[in-house]
Amino acid sequence: MKHWSPLSWRDYPILQQPKYQDESALHQVEEQLTSFPPLVFAEETRDLFKLLGDVANGNAFLLQGGDCAESFNDFSATNIRDTFKVLMQMAVVLTFGGKQPIVKVARMAGQFAKPRSADFETINGIALPSYRGDIVNAIDFTAEAREPQPERLLKAYHHAAATLNLLRAFAQGGLADLHQVNRWNMSFVAANPLKDRYQMLASKIEEALKFMEVCGITSENSPMIKETQLFTSHEALLLNYEQALTRRDHLTGDWYDCSAHMLWIGERTRQLDHAHIEFFRGIKNPIGVKVGPTMEPDELIKLIDALNPENEAGRLTLITRMGADLLEQNLPKLVRKVQAEGRKVVWSSDPMHGNTVKASSGYKTRNFESILREIRQFFAVHKAEGSHAGGIHLEMTGQHVTECTGGAYGLSDEDLSTRYRTQCDPRLNADQVLEMAFLLADSMKDAVKV
Ligand code: PEP
Ligand code: CO
Repeated sequence: MKHWSPLSWRDYPILQQPKYQDESALHQVEEQLTSFPPLVFAEETRDLFKLLGDVANGNAFLLQGGDCAESFNDFSATNIRDTFKVLMQMAVVLTFGGKQPIVKVARMAGQFAKPRSADFETINGIALPSYRGDIVNAIDFTAEAREPQPERLLKAYHHAAATLNLLRAFAQGGLADLHQVNRWNMSFVAANPLKDRYQMLASKIEEALKFMEVCGITSENSPMIKETQLFTSHEALLLNYEQALTRRDHLTGDWYDCSAHMLWIGERTRQLDHAHIEFFRGIKNPIGVKVGPTMEPDELIKLIDALNPENEAGRLTLITRMGADLLEQNLPKLVRKVQAEGRKVVWSSDPMHGNTVKASSGYKTRNFESILREIRQFFAVHKAEGSHAGGIHLEMTGQHVTECTGGAYGLSDEDLSTRYRTQCDPRLNADQVLEMAFLLADSMKDAVKV
């Protein structure tokens, strides 16, 4: 392998980075972060690597979801708990629907850096640097708030550490108990306007759990009923932060980015000769890369070869984000090429980022039906090509926000202002995301396994 080090990315062109005024303050912060403990342990990321290998081989399904951008202000146990709960609820429904293990990866505990379409935002003739996520600057529209602050890297680290601590406690401490999760799902169904549509599946899951209990498989005697494994992930955009948390594993001698179990490269920073590809090629974590509608088959093979030269199953997840209207036209040729070239990848669908529209009220939104349509088309294309539709990647929250339109409660453009809370992109709310799981579970039975 060409020489690589955690800082070799600094010799390459890089996009979407803040311009810090005080270089020496930034340097001090980086030194401090480098001395802090890692947030995850390399062995855990190897577990996730193996599980994603199962996904790549068609034997499991990836559920990845969380905020578009985590926020320092919305940092609370309630928010973390509610997103955790909804992820668990979805996982149960999808396990039952797809008859496959679900690999659960939260977009949490580090999702603080955002790529933006413009470097500046202009309001009433005043232009200020764009908000780039809480790890960089603050969202308020003042010159002071928008100034990138190095200390925010430390704050992001501490927020990520506390979030991860709680997620681990929830996963191991009983909040993921299948019986409990099922009770939440029953209450969700009972309250939903479309309950007749979801009731059958919920009752079947209930029966399956009762059957297991009668057979003596209970929370008390079977850890798999009571505990779960939830991994963390984020877009590794701010490489100063990622470099500082990249450590050499004592067991294997390999380098791991210990800021999260899985990292991905965004659609805007995946240029083959740029810094993000350089950084990612040297870390051993399972990684993802976003794949938008302009991707061509040959370019995709080059990207795969740069990021997964050993062709290891589980190393690379391709997160397609085409848009419901473009997927049918653009995805088949990519899947065909990857199949023909024998590359082992996880295919996951991000049905959010290609379906963003501006509502008449001015809010950035996404429609439930478009999101569902993109996922269904994703399943259909993989089925037609004899490939495994391996996962979904959602921007979602456990809160009852009004950011995406549609769903059983019929949220309209006019409703968006009621509880529009996101720091960046519109998220599916707790009801919408569970409906999504119930609707997908129905179509997964024959679609997932090839
Ligand atoms: C995101 O996942 O929040 C994001 C910015 O996505 P993309 O890189 O696909 O635009
Ligand atoms: Co987003």
